[in-house]
Amino acid sequence: MPEKKIRVAIVGLGFGAEFIPIFQAHPSAEMYAICRRSQAELDKCGDRFGIKVRYTSFADLVKDPNVDAVHINSPIPDHAPQALAALKAGKHVACTVPMATSADECQQIVEQQRKTGKVYMMMETVVYAREYLFAKELYDKGELGRIQFLRGSHQQDMDGWPDYWPGLPPMHYATHCVSPCLAILSKPGKPALAESVVCHGSGRIREDLIKRYNSPFAIETATFKVAGSDVVAEVTRSLFDTARQYRESFDVTGSKKSFEWQQVEDEQPVIHTKSSPEKPLSEKDIPKRVKVPDFAHLLPEPIRRFTMPAAIQDAEHLSFLQGGGHGGSHPHLAHNFLMACLGEQPAFPDAPTSANWTLVGICAHQSALKGGERVSIPRM
Ligand SMILES: NC(=O)c1ccc[n+]([C@@H]2O[C@H](COP(=O)([O-])OP(=O)(O)OC[C@H]3O[C@@H](n4cnc5c(N)ncnc54)[C@H](O)[C@@H]3O)[C@@H](O)[C@H]2O)c1
Repeated sequence: MPEKKIRVAIVGLGFGAEFIPIFQAHPSAEMYAICRRSQAELDKCGDRFGIKVRYTSFADLVKDPNVDAVHINSPIPDHAPQALAALKAGKHVACTVPMATSADECQQIVEQQRKTGKVYMMMETVVYAREYLFAKELYDKGELGRIQFLRGSHQQDMDGWPDYWPGLPPMHYATHCVSPCLAILSKPGKPALAESVVCHGSGRIREDLIKRYNSPFAIETATFKVAGSDVVAEVTRSLFDTARQYRESFDVTGSKKSFEWQQVEDEQPVIHTKSSPEKPLSEKDIPKRVKVPDFAHLLPEPIRRFTMPAAIQDAEHLSFLQGGGHGGSHPHLAHNFLMACLGEQPAFPDAPTSANWTLVGICAHQSALKGGERVSIPRM
């Protein structure tokens, strides 16, 4: 482990606060500063975690020469402007999903990252969740055989969430279901990228929700082509007026085995094995539930415990943990980002890959508005 410590500042202290104890425990980080607009809430968080450097203004934070890296967890419309400002100020940037809300913003971030040579990483939780890491390991070991099809689904009821959510086009927040489909086909230094997308909008949300983004669809469902591959992936999103328990799920259909993540929360995933003349299987023996192991061994010892959401809550007295800690992904994200800042390994996803994952959703929504026309995904 390199001796240098990256001085991290976290912006946005709802979801963002969950990363504070992880950066505090990581041997390569100094959890240096926090930022949110409300002074009272900022102080409450700073006092709880013993962080002295506090900013209510993002503009002031990025002027602080002691900050090496900014981890952005503010509302969606702020992601791109804050990422650009931080890169321009010479900071490394980790940003929660999505990268941006338009192709133009994605392009600007990719260009700014290239110009400055600083790290940009979109902090996509799914590609570090234990279920994804398990499926990836199965594929890389050859157990799934050839990938024939991929399917991601992210359904969430966002009624009652902060004011940037109501009416948001479902595909404008699609990275949780898009990213595993592309990440599993990626190799180190060679990310699989989406080439074009076809999307249909289905159903209709309440009239008062439609007005905000001029988007009527209850569900958006898209298929996208992976460049240089014969694999097609399908993703489905819903945010409002749809009866469905929270689902963040990812299925890989292989020629030898298939992995299906989730039907109902907390059910174990299923592996389907293809029957063959050498190893015939009855229909009832084809699917088997599987207990997914933890991948904490990939992490430095002091942050391994953070793969277990209960441990974080107990130790840090957090009153809530969004998404149950997202499959133990948070410490993996923090570690990958820090190692990228130290030049030890590339960020995954890096800026162009983050842009591609985000653009699948942005272009999918454009396709849905055009009645399902194919839309090419700009290469950045
Ligand atoms: N699985 C995941 O990857 C995942 C899970 C949850 C949330 N998120 C993302 O995290 C972000 C935050 O989610 P949340 O639920 O905590 O939202 P929230 O609206 O509850 O909190 C946003 C935080 O940002 C602060 N903030 C707002 N504007 C700011 C500004 N201009 N400068 C500095 N701070 C500012 C607020 O004070 C607050 O602390 C969202 O963009 C969401 O998409 C991602």
